[in-house]
Amino acid sequence: MENKGISQAVIGRLPRYFRYLGELKDQGIERVSSQELSDIMKVTASQIRQDFNNFGGFGQQGYGYKVEYLYGEIGKILGLDQTHNLIIIGAGNLGQALANYMNFERRGFLFRGIFDNNPALYGRKIRDMEVLPMRELPSFVRENEIDIAVLTIPKNCAVEVAEELVREGIRGIWNFAHVDLNVPPDVQVENVHLSDSLMKLTYNINRYETHYDA
Ligand code: NAI
Repeated sequence: MENKGISQAVIGRLPRYFRYLGELKDQGIERVSSQELSDIMKVTASQIRQDFNNFGGFGQQGYGYKVEYLYGEIGKILGLDQTHNLIIIGAGNLGQALANYMNFERRGFLFRGIFDNNPALYGRKIRDMEVLPMRELPSFVRENEIDIAVLTIPKNCAVEVAEELVREGIRGIWNFAHVDLNVPPDVQVENVHLSDSLMKLTYNINRYETHYDA
């Protein structure tokens, strides 16, 4: 499937399509029209058709989309047709919360290890993983074919740790540290800022209040 040059805006909508289609599939629904998807997802039917046209359509005119097929194809585009081995760097509040969230595994994201540089944490069990010291990182990454690292460490050390991860062959970094990382083009970084989402919420609260106070 050709998906070169697809805009990040389209890619950004695919996980949501994937989630909704997963729910339809779980309900045993076999077919869905772009209008029905539009009603459920609150996205226009033409937006849905345009998005899917980027990947060759997926549907037949007047016939709707086959839910299971579409779910599978979008999953492939998102790289969810294979499992990914992850490590977490930073076994603090956030690192532990992510490690304890089981639902990632349903999507094929397998947490294999959790690392920290605080000796007081070494050996502590988080779910079924013991916190390991950073010196064990290189051999662990190699032996467990780790492709994604989750960075939940303070920003002042994140750049340096990211460089080490790149040297060890990590292909993707899910970066929660509030700092931009310098990585080569063959390594992908996804920055997560929960506060961005919170700021959107306060914007909408304010907009609503302004609208109805007027
Ligand atoms: P925390 O202090 O509970 O945990 C940080 C852990 O990183 C500690 O266990 C510490 O020993 C370890 N660590 C420090 N330097 C290290 C290094 N060089 N190598 C390996 N481990 C190291 O902090 P918390 O609350 O878990 O937050 C972690 C990071 O995530 C912080 O940078 C925080 O600002 C950020 N954060 C980001 C959010 C986001 O939406 N992007 C939301 C919440 C936190």
